[in-house]
Amino acid sequence: MNIIFCEDYEEMSRKAAAVIASQIILKPDSTLGLATGSTPIGLYDELVKKYNLGEISFSRIHTYNLDEYIGLAPTHEQSYAYFMNHHLLGKVDINMSNTHLPFGFAKDIEQECRNYTSKLASVSGGLDFQILGMGHNGHIGFNEPDSKFILDTHCIELTKETIEANSRFFGHIDLVPRSAITMGIRPIMNSKQVLFIVNGSAKAEILEKALFGDVTPNVPASILQMHRSLTVVADREALSVVQQLHPEQIY
Ligand code: F6R
Repeated sequence: MNIIFCEDYEEMSRKAAAVIASQIILKPDSTLGLATGSTPIGLYDELVKKYNLGEISFSRIHTYNLDEYIGLAPTHEQSYAYFMNHHLLGKVDINMSNTHLPFGFAKDIEQECRNYTSKLASVSGGLDFQILGMGHNGHIGFNEPDSKFILDTHCIELTKETIEANSRFFGHIDLVPRSAITMGIRPIMNSKQVLFIVNGSAKAEILEKALFGDVTPNVPASILQMHRSLTVVADREALSVVQQLHPEQIY
């Protein structure tokens, strides 16, 4: 595990973008696992800047998103399909047929989960780089705290905490979907590298637990301790507890 300290959100976004841009330069046909939420917005902005400067191209990149709300059409402003088009995919030269998200508007959600699992399984050798944020309860993707790790794509009832946290995007808590489709833990752990980005003091305690506590499905992100190549890029606030308890672990 490599923990990279950043002063603030802007530095975290720049450093995270530098990591992903290097991956794209080194392997222009990389498969990237993408996250949504507020954390990666700055990273995507920085990648779009690099694309506009001609430093990177997405023309041969393939993407697989972590999750999608159930019941929102891809045109809904709060769907993750819309988010990805708005923040990254619609702004670069990616071939849209090489971009993949679970389809939350599918009639048969169980079948959609199986289809997404097969798509991920067809990525030979695993995703090249998985980008992850983390929920306040330690969730990754929408793998919520549970008594077991769920390996493949599944439908999940969102926890009260996650619904509350995400209500800021919807304007009212009643408008937040109650369920989602999420990639399971297997493709995340099978990915060749993970970029784990975390910011803000509200995640300082759970970040310390995730990185140095017991590996437990109660803190889904704790499984990342067992990943073969984990890079954490986080800001001062998010790293405050790690810095107190494990100062020697931070670059
Ligand atoms: C979304 C996702 C979630 C978010 C998490 C943090 O694709 O994977 O696990 O990363 O909910 O969300 P923010 O960044 O909004 O705090």
